[in-house]
Amino acid sequence: MKIYVTEDYQTMSRKAANILSAQVILNPTSVLGLATGSTPVGMYKQLITWYQKGDLDFSQVRTVNLDEYVGLAPDHDQSYRYFMQTNFFDHINISPDNTNLPNGQAADLAAECQRYNQVIKSQGGIDVQLLGMGHNGHIGFNEPGDAFELETHVVDLTERTIEANARFFASPDEVPRQALTMGIKTIMQARQILVVVSGEDKADAVKAALTGPVTPKVPASILQMHPNVMLVADKAAMSKM
Ligand code: GLP
Repeated sequence: MKIYVTEDYQTMSRKAANILSAQVILNPTSVLGLATGSTPVGMYKQLITWYQKGDLDFSQVRTVNLDEYVGLAPDHDQSYRYFMQTNFFDHINISPDNTNLPNGQAADLAAECQRYNQVIKSQGGIDVQLLGMGHNGHIGFNEPGDAFELETHVVDLTERTIEANARFFASPDEVPRQALTMGIKTIMQARQILVVVSGEDKADAVKAALTGPVTPKVPASILQMHPNVMLVADKAAMSKM
């Protein structure tokens, strides 16, 4: 694992944007695995700025996102489709047909999981998978559990995750209780993984993921087994290392 420690959130965002830019420049048809959450927002902003300056071209890039809430429409302002449109896709020249997220409104969620697995396979796998980290060490919406879930699946969100994400909703009751998420095997099959983490409130999760045992109780700990992980974290997130 390559670890880059940055001074603050802004330099973390810039470093992560540099890494994704390099990927897109070197391979304009890259498959990027993308993530939501507040952590990558600064990175997306930086990529948009470089796109607007003419330094980046996303016209042939393809994307697959990690996860989506069950039950939220794509135009619901807390759906991850809406997040991706407003924080990134609407501001760059990516083709809408080349962007993929699980459909949280599918009538048959099990069939939707199968469809999403096929979408990822049909892209030829993921070149770089971006990941944030939850306070309990979750990646995507792979919550702590007794086993690593392999492929796209439906998850019941933990109380801790519901609480953490309640800040984006009018009330905690409105936070969906379930989500669809890419599984650990799919994430681990990405050729490279880029993890972004910021803030002291993530320091325990970072420590458990990097130095603790590899266990489904801390989903991010599996990253210790991946041959090509880059972690970009600010000093605050690394403060317990
Ligand atoms: C969310 C997302 C994750 C994200 C994590 C941390 O629930 N499903 O993909 O990495 O929680 O979010 P944040 O960056 O806002 O702390």
